[in-house]
Amino acid sequence: MKRVRHLVSVSDLEPFELRQVLRIARMLKARYMAGERIIPVLRGRSVALIFEKPSTRTRVSMELAVVQLGGHPIVLTKKAMQLSRGEPLKDTARVLSRYVDAIAARVYRHEDLVELARYSSVPVINMLSDYEHPLQAISDMFTIWEILGRLRGVNLVFIGDGRDNVAHSLILAASMLGVNMTVACPPELKPDERILEVAERYAADTGSRITVLHDPVEAVKGADIVYTDVWVSMGEEALAEEKKRILRPYQVNGKLMKEAGKAYFMHCLPAHRGEEVTDDVIESERSIVWLQAENRLHVQKAVLAYLLNARV
Ligand code: CP
Ligand code: NVA
Repeated sequence: MKRVRHLVSVSDLEPFELRQVLRIARMLKARYMAGERIIPVLRGRSVALIFEKPSTRTRVSMELAVVQLGGHPIVLTKKAMQLSRGEPLKDTARVLSRYVDAIAARVYRHEDLVELARYSSVPVINMLSDYEHPLQAISDMFTIWEILGRLRGVNLVFIGDGRDNVAHSLILAASMLGVNMTVACPPELKPDERILEVAERYAADTGSRITVLHDPVEAVKGADIVYTDVWVSMGEEALAEEKKRILRPYQVNGKLMKEAGKAYFMHCLPAHRGEEVTDDVIESERSIVWLQAENRLHVQKAVLAYLLNARV
């Protein structure tokens, strides 16, 4: 029996598969830009999109991705499902697997995605958990490739919470693609050790350098990209005051961007202006945050086509 391919972590793909997804995305985006909006390789297939948390970009771009591939998306909020009345996830996974061709989910607890994948007989795609945000990171690698024309040797610097879901996925994706990744974070908010271990294994092959340090000014020297994310992620509301206090020295503002020279600015969005980033930086001409958001659509189509073995 063919192995079901999931994307719970970026590292569920092999590095060569990740590069293949980026190439598919490039081709799909070019065709889209040339006016070919529908490429119906998922005709007759359907994808459940489950949201336990709010979403703007992922919600809209995933639904459109399925539609533009000719498939049928079914958007479900947890509240509208029996899950909210206590139906176990493993039962939900087995039932949905009998209707749809893939299940994508945005959840609070990463373990819930792992459980979904364990009991699902169709691909499970992580649309953000408290541990990773693979679709974001893969899409961001595509954006960097598009802007700089290369990935190997690019210096990507993440400033802020090292345990952030987007940061975790960026570390993995960077290490798989030969991107050098520096994380500048407070000592108490370092990336998870397991993520760093996996990344170091990839880095040994790709030559990528993974560095964790605590001084944002030191971190941005030589940066090609300065990246940040919110200080308080969804589900961390109780920690808000404490995190904002610890992360205050890690704001990406005009002064820090000056230290970074000609670096581009990236943010997965939504942004909290005045916290992790200032208005002048996000609105500056070095900011590529809107392109980042745009590319989610094309990259997610590539991910869906790849995982569902649809030839494009
Ligand atoms: N970046 C991102 O995933 O945005 P949403 O929360 O709006 O989906
Ligand atoms: N780290 C943020 C990302 C939002 C897309 C969060 O989890 O809320």
